[in-house]
Amino acid sequence: MKAKRSGPLTGEAAIPGDKSCSHRALILGAMAEGKTRIAGLLESADVLATVHAIRQFGIEAESDDGIWSVRGGAWRSPCAIDCGNSGTTARLLMGAVAGRPGMRVLFTGDSSLSARPMQRVTLPLARMGAQIEGGKGLPLTVQGANLGGIDHRNVPASAQVKSAILLAGLGTGAPVRIVEPIPSRDHSEIMLGQFGCTVAVDDTPDGWAVSLGKNRELRGCELRIAADPSSAAFPLVAAAIVPGSDVSVRGMLVNPLRTGLYEVLEQMGADIEVSNERIQSGEIVADIRIRAARLQPCQVRAEQVPSMVDEIPALAIACAFADGESVIEGLGELRVKESDRLGAIVAGLTACGVTALVDSDTLRIFGRDKVRGGADIATKGDHRIAMAFVALGLASNRPIEVDEAEMIGTSFPGFVEMMQSLGAGIE
Ligand code: S3P
Repeated sequence: MKAKRSGPLTGEAAIPGDKSCSHRALILGAMAEGKTRIAGLLESADVLATVHAIRQFGIEAESDDGIWSVRGGAWRSPCAIDCGNSGTTARLLMGAVAGRPGMRVLFTGDSSLSARPMQRVTLPLARMGAQIEGGKGLPLTVQGANLGGIDHRNVPASAQVKSAILLAGLGTGAPVRIVEPIPSRDHSEIMLGQFGCTVAVDDTPDGWAVSLGKNRELRGCELRIAADPSSAAFPLVAAAIVPGSDVSVRGMLVNPLRTGLYEVLEQMGADIEVSNERIQSGEIVADIRIRAARLQPCQVRAEQVPSMVDEIPALAIACAFADGESVIEGLGELRVKESDRLGAIVAGLTACGVTALVDSDTLRIFGRDKVRGGADIATKGDHRIAMAFVALGLASNRPIEVDEAEMIGTSFPGFVEMMQSLGAGIE
């Protein structure tokens, strides 16, 4: 795929549903009694891996005119679940299986997912009493059991680990508590509330303590999923760096544990307007508009990273166009995402003529208002690396080519058409 310097990007970007919330809606719907209706579900490869998985557990999941219905109830034990490229499918479902005595499931995935660390999930599940067979990554087998409780310290902050423990905890009456010195995204807690299961969150000297309440039986419900801020990051960063642009997104999830990128962009001088804030299925949602502006470099501390962990590739592109040195600390987790994203960002920026360095977990980018571009980008099969460098190519002097684009459908089917509708020069 090729992206070339474009005129102003303008209009409303149609952004699909949030990926984290889509996985959770399907899984909680499958665990609940009765029917759950979901509007705005992201129909991307990752989320369809979760649809396929819950069907293998014997749960009905169907779409009618874009509204998904999941009929929860008794689960049967499939032999194996193929999670494809989706870490959220694998880690959350391991939790759901762990709390089901007698259920035994082999989890598999593609080569990228198989290389990602799973012990951060399997070790706490084993402490609760689940039996795990396998090593550090996939494939591995989880055998459910009558679980005991747990008091887990969630470091490094991971919403997938926290969610796996909460889902496992639904199968026990024992105390289940997760302490987070730095909070991770809280969609599972919020959505469990929509299904009638309260989750307490207390501010303690050790951090936020998240505890499952007494009622752990879920009742089917109606959910509407908001636009994904991690997907919106690409057209909105492109709007910030392509002169004269003016792009808006309606109904975007603005949960404060997901808006780190937008806070930093504002500090960098981006012209951002947030309006029409409202509550939708327990989450805060708003309309957002970004107009191009000269950007200043940024300083991001490690504790800010969980609120923008998937947006660092997009932020790095904004930094490339900000005159001066940007410093982003605490990026160790980026090495174990769909690819080694730190390595891919530095290699890609360097190929585009931007000086970028990694020192331990810190990324330094020396930006300028003009970026040369003119490079072939090795995406390493990573959807967010591809979309980030396409955004760079819309503002760089020379075109950018990304070596693979099909995997963008992992999180953002329709990305190219949406960008073209704003005026982006993408072939
Ligand atoms: C996710 C949590 C984050 C994020 C991932 C989705 C989730 O991962 O990077 O894309 O849905 O809970 P970690 O939990 O590993 O931080």
